[in-house]
Amino acid sequence: MTAPLIDPFARAITYLRVSVTDRCDFRCVYCMAENMTFLPKKDLLTLEELDRMCSTFVSMGVEKLRITGGEPLVRRNIMSFFNSMTRHLESGALKELTLTTNGSQLHRFADDLYAAGVRRVNISLDTLDEDKFSKVTRWGRLRQVLNGIDAAQKAGLRIKINAVALKGFNEEELPSITKWCAQRGMDLTWIEVMPMGDIGNEDRLDQYWSLKDVRREYENHYTVTDLAERTGGPARYVRLEETGQRIGFITPLSHNFCESCNRVRLTCTGQLYMCLGQEDMADLRGVLRDNPDSEQPLEAAIRAAIDLKPKGHDFDYSRQAVDGQMSRHMSHTGG
Ligand code: GTP
Ligand code: 5AD
Ligand code: SF4
Repeated sequence: MTAPLIDPFARAITYLRVSVTDRCDFRCVYCMAENMTFLPKKDLLTLEELDRMCSTFVSMGVEKLRITGGEPLVRRNIMSFFNSMTRHLESGALKELTLTTNGSQLHRFADDLYAAGVRRVNISLDTLDEDKFSKVTRWGRLRQVLNGIDAAQKAGLRIKINAVALKGFNEEELPSITKWCAQRGMDLTWIEVMPMGDIGNEDRLDQYWSLKDVRREYENHYTVTDLAERTGGPARYVRLEETGQRIGFITPLSHNFCESCNRVRLTCTGQLYMCLGQEDMADLRGVLRDNPDSEQPLEAAIRAAIDLKPKGHDFDYSRQAVDGQMSRHMSHTGG
């Protein structure tokens, strides 16, 4: 193993998020435009190239690998990639192999994911109302996701539900979503909507529901205790004493967590984004393809990229305008 990856702000980089496809079978309104143009297949890293990339990161100290998209489970033959990562879990180099999914394909893959060593999945679900679900995902069907959740639980996977907090959309569902997660023994994390990709200035401000308000809402109904435990991601957790369940808050807007950032993200075309909220990136695909027999140039390129990791994002809605907007959509970097 080589020296650990440390960025200019003394943050150790131990978490790699990898988007394996920009495609998705949903079109969530805050994530994608309805008619997206997707990347040509030849631009994508092959599964073998993804393996080389991830294995190099693991050899450089990455302990947590999260597979994202788009929807990662729509990538053809993606299980062979998960299976190839199992060796890093077995060697002990990798502590966690996991994914963030919309759940639509979980009924097909839950058992295989468990067999590959995945123990926990994060599933994006913003509403339990069928009509609202169809509206927010445009193309999704709630039933399919609920089936996926059943399959995942049956397979023994722990589940965290990720809900984007959307004003006027899922506000009144806070108690029912919370209760549903408690009944099923699932964690729940709320996420503040970020200005990723253009969907119009007005929309973001209208959508934004501060998690300060969400927390207050919980405090009106429960005894809320802050927890020190972390999962290696950006969420802060609390426990609701009455149900014992854990609720997470991902608050890029109302409380910046960049000072403890431990992660970088690789796109499906092999670009390394050092921050979700900045444009800086390094093209690792060229280095990888130019050097089929040695990982040293790739390692050097990764180190050079980490040396440029910015301090944090500039998302800000506080001036009644959207600041720090990114031109790329969330599906590009996978969150
Ligand atoms: P665990 O803590 O392992 O459960 O996962 P996680 O929260 O790191 O991963 P998940 O994919 O569930 O992340 C949820 C969402 O948090 C992402 O889709 C993003 O919206 C947001 N997020 C994750 N990392 C960052 C980050 O570095 N910066 C910002 N601003 N948001 C992030
Ligand atoms: N702001 C916050 N979260 C978003 N996601 C997608 N777009 C946005 C956005 N603009 C979330 C999805 C999913 C994860 C991959 O990112 O709901 O949970
Ligand atoms: Fe697909 Fe997830 Fe984006 Fe929805 S949020 S369109 S499920 S990638």
